[in-house]
Amino acid sequence: MNTAGKNNRAAWIKGPSAQCEAVPKASDLPWGLILLGAPGVGKGTQADLLNRRLHACHLSTGDVFRAAGSSDDCELSPIMKEALGFMRRGELVPDSTVWDMVQERSACLHCPGGFILDGFPRTLGQAQSLKALMDREEIWLTAVVSYELPTDEIVARLAGRRTCDQCKSVYHVTERPPRVEGHCDRCEGKLFQREDDRPESIKVRLETYDRSTAPLIEFYKKLGLLVQVAATGSPDEIFDRTVGELASRHVRVFAHKLLNAAENRRDS
Ligand code: AP5
Repeated sequence: MNTAGKNNRAAWIKGPSAQCEAVPKASDLPWGLILLGAPGVGKGTQADLLNRRLHACHLSTGDVFRAAGSSDDCELSPIMKEALGFMRRGELVPDSTVWDMVQERSACLHCPGGFILDGFPRTLGQAQSLKALMDREEIWLTAVVSYELPTDEIVARLAGRRTCDQCKSVYHVTERPPRVEGHCDRCEGKLFQREDDRPESIKVRLETYDRSTAPLIEFYKKLGLLVQVAATGSPDEIFDRTVGELASRHVRVFAHKLLNAAENRRDS
């Protein structure tokens, strides 16, 4: 399997009792990113590129639910079974379930390589809980990146998506096809179509995004953290656009962090 050097994110995917492999080296300037954007805009694809090139850990709440769903059914708690039902229909999992899960994994926000939150927060309630936790634990955000794309292109991306059943790499039947049809380039796992990529679930997911998640754009704009990036073009072009927008902000946030630490030392 060609996953050398890739962190398996065990502590995030399985919970805090699991040990991550290949933990990223401590960075002097760890990235703290939140990726926002409608389902299918390409957040997971960008998170994977950001992880491979910036080494910050990819923390996706959807991946945690999908991993739980593919484990043995009798191990699932009633709350997790209920969560998977919401997910299949394209609805949001209740805030309390999501927040319990994230809080349990909050050590991942202190990952030495930094973090990329993908699919969380998704409601104002989740964003407020996360902000309170970050303020309390002095976790710094570099930026919140909001990816934007017209709806017809989003629907085409979702309808053609295929995911590896082993390493979870994401492909697209026409835009990012694997070298061998139906098989993953990285680990030769089988590619499958996600249950929530059926047309009826896609419609619910897009409506839910507009109603519950789009208001977060204003929330983070007011906090001065929002960076809007067009999600058109190839994944590499979008990645370059993202990093281009973020580079100077990254250094500024780090300088602010150092200044703050110096002030705290002086006051104590
Ligand atoms: P989640 O897993 O977070 O899914 P999502 O937000 O719906 O996002 P997707 O994974 O569908 O899309 P993406 O933007 O990552 O796009 P991708 O990179 O794959 O959540 C799933 C469900 O879990 C939710 O509906 C909810 O039920 C539950 N859930 C999770 N978190 C929750 C929370 N916080 N609160 C409540 N409920 C929660 O790309 C899509 C396709 O496009 C791929 O085929 C890809 O190859 C292709 N593609 C990507 N980039 C390009 C490009 N530049 N050009 C052409 N094709 C491209």
